[in-house]
Amino acid sequence: MGTPLVGTAIITGGNGSLGSEIAVSIAKTQPYVHLLLLARDIRSESVKDVRERIRLIGPRSLEFVKVDLASFNSVVSFTEITVERVKNKEIPPVTLLINCAAMSSYTTEQVTRDGHDPVYQTNAIAPFLLTVSLLEAFRAGDGTPNGGARVINVGCSSISKGTLDYFESPDPELSVHPGAPLSAKEATKRFGSSKLIMSAAMYALRRSLVLTGKLSLNVYTLDPGVMTGESHAANAAPLSVKMAHQTRSGLRPFLRVFSKTAMNKASVPAKVIAKVAFRPDTVENWGRERYYILDSEYEAGSVIPAMRDPKQMDALLKKMLQQVEVGVKGMGSPSSRVSRLSC
Ligand SMILES: NC(=O)c1ccc[n+]([C@@H]2O[C@H](COP(=O)([O-])OP(=O)(O)OC[C@H]3O[C@@H](n4cnc5c(N)ncnc54)[C@H](OP(=O)(O)O)[C@@H]3O)[C@@H](O)[C@H]2O)c1
Repeated sequence: MGTPLVGTAIITGGNGSLGSEIAVSIAKTQPYVHLLLLARDIRSESVKDVRERIRLIGPRSLEFVKVDLASFNSVVSFTEITVERVKNKEIPPVTLLINCAAMSSYTTEQVTRDGHDPVYQTNAIAPFLLTVSLLEAFRAGDGTPNGGARVINVGCSSISKGTLDYFESPDPELSVHPGAPLSAKEATKRFGSSKLIMSAAMYALRRSLVLTGKLSLNVYTLDPGVMTGESHAANAAPLSVKMAHQTRSGLRPFLRVFSKTAMNKASVPAKVIAKVAFRPDTVENWGRERYYILDSEYEAGSVIPAMRDPKQMDALLKKMLQQVEVGVKGMGSPSSRVSRLSC
């Protein structure tokens, strides 16, 4: 390609239903963006399929990298290599990170090698670790609202069922008897809690970065609504759970807005995400904490009430920073980057 690349876009779950559609949408609308897609198995059919779909769009800069989000080691190895590649100008600075991958499970599981519930580590700790460990790879910003970088966290309506302290005192039974079925209610609470913690911690990180003023990184959550198609993340869900997700009967008022959208193909929210990710911002808009439900914008504090309590947000940020520091001990910890953040 004759025209230089303008930035790198990283998408986790780049082979998943939504992640792959987001990659295709960006490839169609942003031909000079380097697409760095993360997947657990880069030889899978789904990866081959995304490669082929993007190849048919035209000449694009695309690569898949193997990362297991349930492993601190895997995430940190990736971020260290990526920071080096950006410094060496092998790839352009990261202008966009989309935390799309997620797992849900309707059985109890053994904790990961890092000692966490795999749902929590994959959905909450990994996106946070990825973001803080990539700080030096993000485009630094030029003082304008569009000069920096963006992080979009893919949310889910189930956050309304979650709590911030869900993973604090894990039931020892869970790891003693892995494979035992969980009730639909419990599994939704577990998944919703992981998504809630991820979203809230990322807004807390944004606040901290705004305070230190060192990096122009905007962070928001986008709830894609309910999608049709085979989400591997929901495969194990009993029918009752899937139905509850579809009807969304007991959710809070903001979710009623999104029930109007009914079920969409993954390509619908993917196009919205690709648009929101590259939409120019005004100075006024940049300062707001935004939460999207498809392309409708809300004040994040109205969706995540804990955001109205600065002490709770500070405590959450501190806890997450401690957890990722523990996770990367002895493996080239990003602590130098982390310690620059105020909490
Ligand atoms: N489907 C819906 O109706 C719906 C509704 C609201 C929000 N969402 C959100 O949309 C996002 C995408 O969901 P989807 O429907 O596209 O599900 P999906 O097709 O199952 O995609 C999930 C992706 O996450 C990846 N992943 C899971 N565990 C991983 C790990 N340990 N390391 C690396 N990657 C891992 C999967 O990789 P593998 O292929 O290796 O498993 C897959 O690429 C999720 O954040 C979900 O919460 C979905």
